[in-house]
Amino acid sequence: MRCKINTYSLTFRLTKGGITILPFTFHNPTRIIFGEGKASETGSITATYSKNVLLVYGGNSIKRSGLYESVVNQLQQANIRYVELGGVEPNPRLTSVYEGIRLVREHKLDFILAVGGGSVIDAAKAIAAGVPYEGDVWDFFTNKAHIQAAVPLGAVLTLAATGTEMNGSMVISHWEQKLKRGSGSPLVYPRFSILDPTLTYTVPANQTVYGSVDIMSHVFEQYFSLTPDTPLQERFCESILQTVIENVELALDNPEHAAARANLMWCGTMALNGGQISLGMQNDWASHGIEHEISAIYDIPHGAGLSIVFPNWMKYVYKERPDRFAQYATRVWGISPEGKTTDELALAGIEATRQFFTRIGAEATLSEFNIDDSQLERMAEEAVRYGPIGSFKRLHKEDVLAILQMCL
Ligand code: NZQ
Ligand code: ZN
Repeated sequence: MRCKINTYSLTFRLTKGGITILPFTFHNPTRIIFGEGKASETGSITATYSKNVLLVYGGNSIKRSGLYESVVNQLQQANIRYVELGGVEPNPRLTSVYEGIRLVREHKLDFILAVGGGSVIDAAKAIAAGVPYEGDVWDFFTNKAHIQAAVPLGAVLTLAATGTEMNGSMVISHWEQKLKRGSGSPLVYPRFSILDPTLTYTVPANQTVYGSVDIMSHVFEQYFSLTPDTPLQERFCESILQTVIENVELALDNPEHAAARANLMWCGTMALNGGQISLGMQNDWASHGIEHEISAIYDIPHGAGLSIVFPNWMKYVYKERPDRFAQYATRVWGISPEGKTTDELALAGIEATRQFFTRIGAEATLSEFNIDDSQLERMAEEAVRYGPIGSFKRLHKEDVLAILQMCL
């Protein structure tokens, strides 16, 4: 079949007419405070929620940047009593969550303020859910229990990547068992998130790259869908992908590029804020499931794992719906359909993705992290522990294993 630009989705629509946007309800309760300098409102905004706060942060980045000093000064000025939980790890660990739960209970705190990247905010969410729960908070990550209540939380975001600042998801690692698991609830949406793009000026190049790969991957998980006739959602997705592609290198060349940092930050939030861009579409999420198995064992950055997994997942599944991949190639990468079959166009788009990730400095193979094939079986097995994953193409253990082997 020969392609003409913009005809595949139309063809698809006409041939499969009748099925369209799936039923959905949408509610996102997070209040967003966006803009340069908005971090200076942290104290006054927090004070409208609580005077007894657990302040959660990661390693030293907020101390080096001066943000820590600014935030504690603001809390003091607002007469807020606060207790600190610092040192939350990238790929946050259950042990930090336990410590946070202990502190909230012991000091009778009633609000959590997370200042950091996705790991810090995710840890804060898990603490929030764990405090009112009598059992082990890990139960929420193993489907043994569902979140029934949570302490309210707010966030000051320092890294454009996960979208956790405006969603109800969290991912925690059980380091001793080498497990990384997600959980979620409407109850752990942050009450507010402050998005001050100037806070991301200090994000190092590699984290800027990994964050951007993560943002694009969140869009991929939603965009590569079998649900037909969703042109608005597809264009939401394509616009985020294009905006990230246009802005990453600007931020890498000049880390204080105000517009690039602001655009990346807003893309990150919009890409995964309760599924707003893909309402009524079936999502996939297999690549995230596979990546979590890699970082659970090897503790590599989430975005690095996605840079390795996603292009291989694309190659493995594109035949399920080559027209969507062809649309991606033309609309996102501007690849001419002239003289190409749909499959050739689809593969050109996948190759453009790989080349872009490599050009900005993200890894392409597991071996770049000295990861060999010794744990692939285990990872594949864990990825499908509750059954096949993904919806674009249902992946069984042998499929996951095949994709992981392509990643070596
Ligand atoms: O710990 P500090 O010192 O703060 O340093 C961090 C960390 O080393 C640093 N950093 C953050 N902001 C900075 C900065 N360095 C300089 N200046 C700043 N302004 O960056 C490093 C990585 O931080 P991290 O929070 O781990 O990164 P990210 O935001 O990418 O979060 C990754 C975690 O989120 C999970 C991932 O699996 C991973 O555990 N995810 C959470 C999701 C969600 N809740 O919706 C969805 C995602 O798909 C993802 O799975
Ligand atoms: Zn992600």
